[in-house]
Amino acid sequence: MNRTENQMLIIFGASGDLTARKLIPAIFNLALGGHLPENFVVLGTSRSDISDEEFRRNVVSESEHLEDDLNGKKKKVVEKFSGQLFYHKLNSDKDSGYAALKDRIISLNQEFHTDNNYIFYLSTPPSVYEPIAKELYEQDLHKEDKGWKRLIVEKPFGYSLKTAKELNRALQRYFKESQIYRIDHYLGKETVQNLLVTRFSNSIFEPLWNRNYIHHVEITNAESVGVEKRGGYYDKSGALRDMFQSHLLQIVALVVMEPPLNASPEEIRNEKLKALKSLRVMEDEKTLHENTMRAQYIASTIEGKAVNGYREEENVDPNSKTETFAALKFFVDNWRWADVPFYVRTAKRMPTKVTEVVIHFKSPHHQIFKDSGMNSKDNKLIIRIQPDEGILIKFGVKVPGQGFKVERANLDFYYSSLVENHIMEAYERLLLDAMQGDPTLYARADEVEAAWTFVDPILEYWKNSDEKVYGYSAGTWGPETADDLIEGSAGWRNPGAQLADDPNYCVIC
Ligand code: BG6
Repeated sequence: MNRTENQMLIIFGASGDLTARKLIPAIFNLALGGHLPENFVVLGTSRSDISDEEFRRNVVSESEHLEDDLNGKKKKVVEKFSGQLFYHKLNSDKDSGYAALKDRIISLNQEFHTDNNYIFYLSTPPSVYEPIAKELYEQDLHKEDKGWKRLIVEKPFGYSLKTAKELNRALQRYFKESQIYRIDHYLGKETVQNLLVTRFSNSIFEPLWNRNYIHHVEITNAESVGVEKRGGYYDKSGALRDMFQSHLLQIVALVVMEPPLNASPEEIRNEKLKALKSLRVMEDEKTLHENTMRAQYIASTIEGKAVNGYREEENVDPNSKTETFAALKFFVDNWRWADVPFYVRTAKRMPTKVTEVVIHFKSPHHQIFKDSGMNSKDNKLIIRIQPDEGILIKFGVKVPGQGFKVERANLDFYYSSLVENHIMEAYERLLLDAMQGDPTLYARADEVEAAWTFVDPILEYWKNSDEKVYGYSAGTWGPETADDLIEGSAGWRNPGAQLADDPNYCVIC
């Protein structure tokens, strides 16, 4: 196991939601698991004028996000943890603001012996990533002559290929690429990492993992929630930017990539980059029209409760064309995947929360059993990212009795059956990796740009064309026409709340 050196975590945007909701609970769990180094301090900073004590109250003792974790914990444990948290109000005065922050960092470093090792976590709006990096640079807080320095940035990483490139270049002016950690919380999920292990630590899947045996690949990411309180952000983003460009393309890369030479961060990321670069970019209008689909949820009643349509949500333009559902069909131009269609969809306000990858295998090339509906009985490998994490293989078995009637049976594996220990939450895992200097599960600049290269033309097309925005009732699996995207098959597999549920689960009725 890697060593975690003494260090300080400096969080920008410390009075914001992400800090209380994700970061502090993740650090608390790391503390409980004994993963923090002996000397460790968190310094939260933002423009809000609060004291150390108030910060501790907000994010620990009175935080609704830590309530359950604190229950039953000894007072001493909680007090020790709180005592490691500090707060500094960042003065808006350009000249004194960052100098004073630096003084505070130096004094905490001296007092708590954090060995000049600093992680700067930018949990702020993306518009200030560059200014913060610049200020840190001007204060020499990027220099690694004494201790290492790392910069973690949250998504969205850019708004388009152009802005992502600009942001990369800007951050790289002040920090080296090896110091920059671009967080994608899906890579922190055990089941996403398990895609690599399933593929490359077994000899039963990889020989079949190609165009000779795979008919198509389907990825569904569904959320039952709507845009909640994030209408302002979401309306400028949409499903394709919010989920597909980052999280889902990372999953696609792990499904598509070639085996890396070894498990080092650079080898894995090199292969992911190659995978992303092999996605066929859709360029002409005909291809874009035929292979992309967008939609928005409309008001409905779910389990007896009325829910708003997207355009009625807070801070959403009543005439908005922003998609809350996006579905794509695309190809991967390389030796392994030639002519295998990939279908990916993501949406809010679907019947259930689920993310899964389905590998649909081809029918046996010589059909001996002429049972009806054999096509729908083709083998499937379902890798369930969340929830009810696990893997399911669908295969044909003989129905007892005369003749050869074939039925589909399940071979399943559930993560829950393995779990003896606490499974780290995505943020916990990713923070610990950054604390140990392991960037494997962070996106590199070139990966992010390759992902935008694929997504950009779709966004441009949607923005500048009359491509329809379909409506779908909140709580359903999206517009019916989405099934037309999938050629010659029964359409999307609509998974249920549990891994082994049969498809077409719906809560609206
Ligand atoms: C975030 C998106 O990155 O991921 C949200 O901005 C989305 O819109 C969330 O709800 C989904 O994450 P998870 O881990 O709940 O699937």
